[in-house]
Amino acid sequence: MADWTKKTILRNNALQQYIFETSAYPKEHEQLKELREATAEKYKDLSVMNVPVDEAQFLSLFLKIMNAKKTMEIGVFTGYSLLATALALPQDGQIIAIDPDKEAYQTGQPFIRKAGMQNKIKFIQSDAFLVLNDLIIKGEEESFDFVFVDAYKSDYLKFHELTLKLVKVGGIVAYDNTLWYGSVAESEEEVTDDLIKKFRNFVMEFNSFVAADPV
Ligand SMILES: C[S@@+](CC[C@H](N)C(=O)[O-])C[C@H]1O[C@@H](n2cnc3c(N)ncnc32)[C@H](O)[C@@H]1O
Repeated sequence: MADWTKKTILRNNALQQYIFETSAYPKEHEQLKELREATAEKYKDLSVMNVPVDEAQFLSLFLKIMNAKKTMEIGVFTGYSLLATALALPQDGQIIAIDPDKEAYQTGQPFIRKAGMQNKIKFIQSDAFLVLNDLIIKGEEESFDFVFVDAYKSDYLKFHELTLKLVKVGGIVAYDNTLWYGSVAESEEEVTDDLIKKFRNFVMEFNSFVAADPV
């Protein structure tokens, strides 16, 4: 199995470690650290599904700069990016957080509560496609400031069609991992890991679609 903790797209792993240790970890919120550690303890290698600490801080900065208030997260897992988002929103901010896996969310929930962020979050245990279609039917089109998509890469194109309807003009839909551990710039023969192989073409197709989309 691939060592996912060593999959960086930076020049080398030492550089990533430098960024984490000198900049990102010192600024990490206490409950984010606790949630990250509890996830690593319970989920071992799968804990790599949490966005890394630097990405969460970038998300947070972005949300604050754009003054986001109403957001959505598709793909919650234990809630690292969710808690980072909640901490970045104002007191009356709202996040609809969707994931069919409630058990993983429950792992992160105590830290979300301890951080005092539970009131900003409406967790919906479901496949996001159902929720997105439902929100469109209920007249929530063009009402979200920000949507973060971090689910299966094979679904990104289908999510895009729906999230574009839900986000405001001037709002943002952000997708996690669109360089797919750097594999998008590697030849097919160079990609040996099964999981990376499995989603690489979907990610490349999605990137080409977005690049060619004039919207
Ligand atoms: C990479 S993890 C999310 C990590 C999370 N954003 C974080 O940083 O902690 C992907 C999650 O997407 C969820 N997922 C997969 N398909 C989904 C779907 N159709 N709708 C909603 N969530 C989905 C999985 O259950 C999994 O928990």
